[in-house]
Amino acid sequence: YPIEHPHHTDWSFHGPFGTYDRGQLQRGLKVYKEVCSACHSLDLVAFRTLTDLGYSEDQVKTLAAEYDIEAGPDNDGNMYDRPGIPSDYFPAPFANAEQAAASNNGAAPPDLSLMAKARGITRGFPYFIFDMFTQYQEGGPDYIHSLLTGYQEPPEGVEIPTGTHYNPYFANAASLAMAPPLSDGIVSYDDGAPETVDQYATDVAAFLMWTAEPKLEDRKQTGLVVMVFLVVLTVLVYLTKKSLYARKH
Ligand code: HEM
Repeated sequence: YPIEHPHHTDWSFHGPFGTYDRGQLQRGLKVYKEVCSACHSLDLVAFRTLTDLGYSEDQVKTLAAEYDIEAGPDNDGNMYDRPGIPSDYFPAPFANAEQAAASNNGAAPPDLSLMAKARGITRGFPYFIFDMFTQYQEGGPDYIHSLLTGYQEPPEGVEIPTGTHYNPYFANAASLAMAPPLSDGIVSYDDGAPETVDQYATDVAAFLMWTAEPKLEDRKQTGLVVMVFLVVLTVLVYLTKKSLYARKH
């Protein structure tokens, strides 16, 4: 199979000064909630962290309460649910991996919490040297965006296993068990962003970058302060050296 490399998207979090676009993260969360969460869990994300996306604590409470969280057996041994609270995590759509696999022809939909990092493969020599300076960390979201928009008819003569869908961007093969999950207009946006597959894919990929790296902005800011400090220190050390070792006439 011909495997395609992900194409690059202009992410707002690109580069040393990059930051997340809150509006985009909120749209991406909506796509996850309304489409992806039917199959994919988001085990590592607690509702309380959604304040990072610009939601107030009350909004997060309301959002958490939309979910039923299993609260354990009662005195008679029956399981019961309670409404979610901010300290809960996104509940998984399936009770366990076996059920998840059974619902999808044997391929369990993977958890998406860290997917943007898991598929953010570092590029080989010499690119990784440049990447250290330009802070290129967008391989993961580029991959997710390319995968979601990359479904195609298989080329002439290529036979794919039944129950799979041809997609040359898929990292493991060129056809995967996930049917194209997005189509134009399936998620409504209230901020005027286009309701297209490309926009949904971009937004949900950005959202998954945030779930995988919620502290990206702090890390970049600290890095910048460290670099400025090192430059100042270098100048001071140089001047110290000059004065300490200066010839005395
Ligand atoms: C795999 C994303 C919706 C079922 C994947 C992978 C990603 C992904 C990134 C992993 C590909 C890899 O391993 O490199 C998404 C996103 C969705 C979405 C962002 C929403 C926009 C769905 C839905 C279903 C589904 C609705 C079920 C109907 C699967 C399955 C796999 C998978 C079964 C495993 C495929 C395989 O290994 O062959 N998805 N997905 N996904 N997804 Fe989704």
